[in-house]
Amino acid sequence: MAEMKDLFQTADWKAEKHVPVIDFQEGSYVPGDTLSVNVSVGKSIPHPNTTAHHIRWIEVYFLPDGAKFPFQLARAEFTAHGESVEGADMSTTYTAPSMSVSFKTSKSGTIFASAYCNIHGLWQSSQTLKIA
Ligand SMILES: [Fe+2]
Repeated sequence: MAEMKDLFQTADWKAEKHVPVIDFQEGSYVPGDTLSVNVSVGKSIPHPNTTAHHIRWIEVYFLPDGAKFPFQLARAEFTAHGESVEGADMSTTYTAPSMSVSFKTSKSGTIFASAYCNIHGLWQSSQTLKIA
């Protein structure tokens, strides 16, 4: 039986355009502060953003060290991909696959991101958040 977890692909984001890239100010987070996290797809190699081929959504989770279950921080849906009444790729309006979320935590942990390409499926990445 196939398992959903087996559908998530990953790679080095510098060489694979589908991998969500998690950016935040590392090494300076203090508990109680608000941490701003940006997640984007195509940071190194731009992903196509057309009616036929685009990133549909990004989700972000945080798993505190020692926790069993993650907390969902955000989900961004990208809903403009050039489509219009004139046809595919005619609107000139395209949502960029990039989103930001801010959150607080008192524990170190792992930030996870997942993204979905309508042609190439599910992708994931993670970054460790260390509290000084
Ligand atoms: Fe793709």
